[in-house]
Amino acid sequence: MKILAIETSCDETAASVVSFSKGKIDIQSNIVSSQIKIHAKWGGVVPSLAAREHLKNIMPVISESIKKAKTTIKKIDLIAVTHGPGLIPALLIGTSAAKSLSYFSSKPLIGINHVEAHLYANFFCKNKSSLDNFKFPILALVVSGGHTQLVLIKKHLKYEIIGETQDDAVGEAFDKVAKILELGYPGGPIISKLADETNYEEIELIRNNEIKKLFENIKFPRPMIGSDNLNFSYSGLKTSVMYFFKKITAPSPSKKDLEISKRLIAKYFQEAAIEVLVKKSQKAIKKYDAKTFFLAGGVAANSYLRNQISENITIPFNYPLLEFCGDNAAMIAITAHYQYQALSEKKKRALLKNWETLEANPNLRL
Ligand code: KG4
Ligand code: ZN
Repeated sequence: MKILAIETSCDETAASVVSFSKGKIDIQSNIVSSQIKIHAKWGGVVPSLAAREHLKNIMPVISESIKKAKTTIKKIDLIAVTHGPGLIPALLIGTSAAKSLSYFSSKPLIGINHVEAHLYANFFCKNKSSLDNFKFPILALVVSGGHTQLVLIKKHLKYEIIGETQDDAVGEAFDKVAKILELGYPGGPIISKLADETNYEEIELIRNNEIKKLFENIKFPRPMIGSDNLNFSYSGLKTSVMYFFKKITAPSPSKKDLEISKRLIAKYFQEAAIEVLVKKSQKAIKKYDAKTFFLAGGVAANSYLRNQISENITIPFNYPLLEFCGDNAAMIAITAHYQYQALSEKKKRALLKNWETLEANPNLRL
């Protein structure tokens, strides 16, 4: 079966053709058109700008994915599209395109949950070619710009959200801290690069004693780390960084002191943000006797997080290859494949009418 998948939930316009045959997966194309440069000026994704860019790019991206796969729409067996969660103006572009394609080509159409697709991106990893190699229950930590969730995967397509953020997502916190420090967008890759290049001894290089003292007493909070549930909170940590940075800039630091300070803040922030993720994951593994651990979502690209998880978690640990951590459409295709296989013949036939009824839902839950 050959699936054409489309993803436009946030700031990437993506399309992919993936073919599934006798247990083998062949990613024939995986096109991602990123809007990073457009949103960078604003320090975050602007929904109306995202929609305009998706509208401009959607057909060229779909057409490129079909061309690269050396196929035609006639040879596609199923069209899959992200229909939530995400930004509604962005979701509407992808779902409209998918519905039109489905209508004019008379191909079945299936709506896919973006978070579920991040989980299934774990299929695209280094050592394993099949999810059947992983033992259930799987505990997944979903960390992205929009989500921070602990999800128990009991078996294929059976999920329970056992913990989630009460306010900001962890990726959002990375982005906001980068904005506070005036480092650019998206913040995750910038903050993690700075943090990894820095060591705490750099405090000694700070000339201004007042600033040096602030760093000697620095303690960013680990919100909810000791709470008896599996939830998270990141807005307090972000606010703490903001107040700390205000204190650093108050004595008008030299360019060099300011540069060192930003690097150190990035490191202390990353450490605090990730310590909570690791602690709550350990707690959840124990509570639910999980047999495998998955990392999913854009923040899964963070190497410090991967190291901390592998050092502190004793069960087998898997994460997607780098190109499948962030938003892409190949992960939509693999999820569609599993969803489709589980449908009755009647429900499969009903997908032919989905061009009429499929809705975009910005708050879609797992
Ligand atoms: O999954 P994704 O591409 O889009 C959403 O569904 O949100 O995740 C994007 C998020 C952004 O917040 C970005 O800053 C973060 O993932 N991110 C990272 C890293 N790479 C991307 N955060 C921390 N460290 C990274 N290396
Ligand atoms: Zn995502």
